[in-house]
Amino acid sequence: MADTNKSIHGEWSSRFAFILAATGSAVGLGNIWKFPYITGENGGGAFVIVYLLCVAAIGIPIMIAETMMGRRGRQSPINTLQTLTEEAGANKNWHYLGWLGVIAGFLILSYYSVIAGWSMAYVIKAFTGSFSGESASQISGLFADLQASPIQQAFWHTLFIIATMAIVARGVQGGLEKAVRFLMPSLFAILMLLVAYAMTTGSYMQGIEFLFKPDFSELTAASVLTAMGHAFFTLSLGMGAIMVYGSYLPKDISIGKTAIIIAGADTLVALLAGIAIFPIVFANGLEVGSGPGLIFETLPIAFGSMTGGWLFGVLFFILLVFAALSSAISLIEPAVAWCVEHYGIERKHACIGMGFFTWLLGMGTVLSFNQWSDVTFFGATFFESLDYLTANLMLPLGGLFIALFAGRIMLPKDSKEELNLGNDMLFTIWKFLVSYVAPAAVFIVFLNVLGVFGIFS
Ligand code: PHE
Repeated sequence: MADTNKSIHGEWSSRFAFILAATGSAVGLGNIWKFPYITGENGGGAFVIVYLLCVAAIGIPIMIAETMMGRRGRQSPINTLQTLTEEAGANKNWHYLGWLGVIAGFLILSYYSVIAGWSMAYVIKAFTGSFSGESASQISGLFADLQASPIQQAFWHTLFIIATMAIVARGVQGGLEKAVRFLMPSLFAILMLLVAYAMTTGSYMQGIEFLFKPDFSELTAASVLTAMGHAFFTLSLGMGAIMVYGSYLPKDISIGKTAIIIAGADTLVALLAGIAIFPIVFANGLEVGSGPGLIFETLPIAFGSMTGGWLFGVLFFILLVFAALSSAISLIEPAVAWCVEHYGIERKHACIGMGFFTWLLGMGTVLSFNQWSDVTFFGATFFESLDYLTANLMLPLGGLFIALFAGRIMLPKDSKEELNLGNDMLFTIWKFLVSYVAPAAVFIVFLNVLGVFGIFS
């Protein structure tokens, strides 16, 4: 309830713990796997600029809104919305927004786990020295073999879901807080090392140019939507992950600056991943638009040819798996918290149930790379459709309504009290951004894809 001080699920030990957990949620496969490959598919620089604009103008204000709503509601997103709706005396239907988020998280985890599974498989490949001395095409072949095998992918997917649910079952704090404290700095260090390697490839500047030199003629309405969808995906926004983490945030902690720190760290990791990957792509004559396999086909080349690359390969993929784990737990936490609240069941049991259904759905993604590769919906495979539906539609739509709710439905006195920005001017700016700028931006991008304006079409 709004004036109860603690969530029944527990609380973070400090502001720093919240920053780590939320950064752990934000930094994941989205930054290292997805950002480089969609940048490659969407022509580079201009796409990156749209993405950065979306992070700043839409992402940060919505992150503040989600954290604030979570902390005021103190429950799973579904029940938080219910409580806040009552508090504001608004239309009851707003709680469906909580449902939209819980379902999106569930759908995303189903395919996220399959990709995280690839990363696990690559830990073993790196460990057994599969990359050393191999050519770019042999390394692509390794990836093709993995994709062609439903059994191997199902194995790793199963393992990843079990690991995720085991952490969630133990509650979010103890293990997790400690884990991210160590993992995030290590991931950062290894990325820097890969950036240093990329500088030696001779195609460094070509990579940098591709990432940062905009060519707006490359931009289409569809790529603007992808950039915006990715801003939501990479910051874990629009589905209640940050909201549920906000509900474990102690009362006396201020929300504004924390959101900027989290978004900044997340963006930095994505850009570093791009800076590490594109020079390798160009130096080896690989295809920038090769899709979801991009990092699995490029980074092993670096590991295979640098001294000590064996060890760095193992470390890199382990860290990638951990980064994925710290995001995965936040994808399913809203659903688990809701089950515990609604059915009064134990967390453990909620995890078993949710884990099973996500796992089952994930098998569709596994098969979409082999057996079902020609089963398509509007020309997209099962995996591609789920990715489009969640990242490009559900998250921006969820974000649009979260912004409207925080900006226009909640009473200003309540949001102001909860945010406690200590500065009226900042509050006014934030409220303007969530009430008008963010919703309008999302709306315009949606309309543009439907061809209404014909900009970048
Ligand atoms: N932000 C995570 C990533 O970039 C994915 C994610 C999306 C996590 C939505 C939680 C909620 O990998």
